[in-house]
Amino acid sequence: MTEAELYTVYKGLRVPSLLHTPKSLKYFEEFTFRQDDIIIVTYPKSGTTWTQEIVPLIMSGGDPASVETVPNWERVPWLEEIQASTYNLEQRPSPRMLTTHFPYNMMPPSFFEVRPKVIYVMRNPKDVFVSSFFYHRTASFLVNPGPQTEFLHKFLDGKVMFGSWFDHVKSWLNAEDKEHIMHISYEEMIMDLKDAVGRMAQFLQKSLDPEVIEKIADRCLFKNMRKNNMSNYSIVPLAFLDQTKSEFLRKGIAEDWKNQLPVAEAEYFDSVYKDRMKDVNYTFVWDE
Ligand code: A3P
Repeated sequence: MTEAELYTVYKGLRVPSLLHTPKSLKYFEEFTFRQDDIIIVTYPKSGTTWTQEIVPLIMSGGDPASVETVPNWERVPWLEEIQASTYNLEQRPSPRMLTTHFPYNMMPPSFFEVRPKVIYVMRNPKDVFVSSFFYHRTASFLVNPGPQTEFLHKFLDGKVMFGSWFDHVKSWLNAEDKEHIMHISYEEMIMDLKDAVGRMAQFLQKSLDPEVIEKIADRCLFKNMRKNNMSNYSIVPLAFLDQTKSEFLRKGIAEDWKNQLPVAEAEYFDSVYKDRMKDVNYTFVWDE
């Protein structure tokens, strides 16, 4: 299928047409948030699925059933995805756990009225790029990425799903009323998952014993989480997501870009990064 067939351009952003129909995008636009909703927000390939594992475990006090009985896309649904309207989110008890890939400026009006809690997860864009490159080779609903260099230019120009990584991250870093938004990085989660789980629990005002936090962090380690069929996308048909080419939970490490990007590509990436991020006043782990 061609790019024009695979992607819809929605308010200037490319979104995969099969996952995001006009009806599902309208559902997102008209969604009524509650003040106590918890929303996981990410640019794709930044640790969404990982956070969709951590948050239900936190909110259930560490109950494994919270992540073993329902697939991640139903347990913490993407509001803009085609299935969202079928999950009867309006009837779900509070606090609801939700997900979106949209930038701050594209959140629906109700979001700005009630300002629910947001966990915004960021990841080194060079690793986002690598993860995305492999993912695009497996997903039949995404455009074939072509050669790596070609995809790199598309990525840096924002001509990929959900637009530019730079614009996305900046939109959520510059969000107003930051006290209802927690910014955390994939790299911080890699470095000390127990600490990250503890901080998320604190942000969500969920008081948990240190042993429970430790158990949650252990369950969510890459090697353990990838065995969870409700989170590793193994129940998705091969025709949709061909994990024989590359698993969804692929490597789960920081700095895989060092294995994938030739020096010239990494240097080009850095030069664009430096220019696009020059107005950002935030210390990322990967810049230190
Ligand atoms: P890699 O392709 O680099 O392995 P998303 O869920 O936003 O699409 O992000 C997918 C990325 O998060 C993949 O990165 C995946 O392996 C990684 N990931 C998922 N669960 C993880 C975990 N428990 N620990 C570390 N990385 C994880």
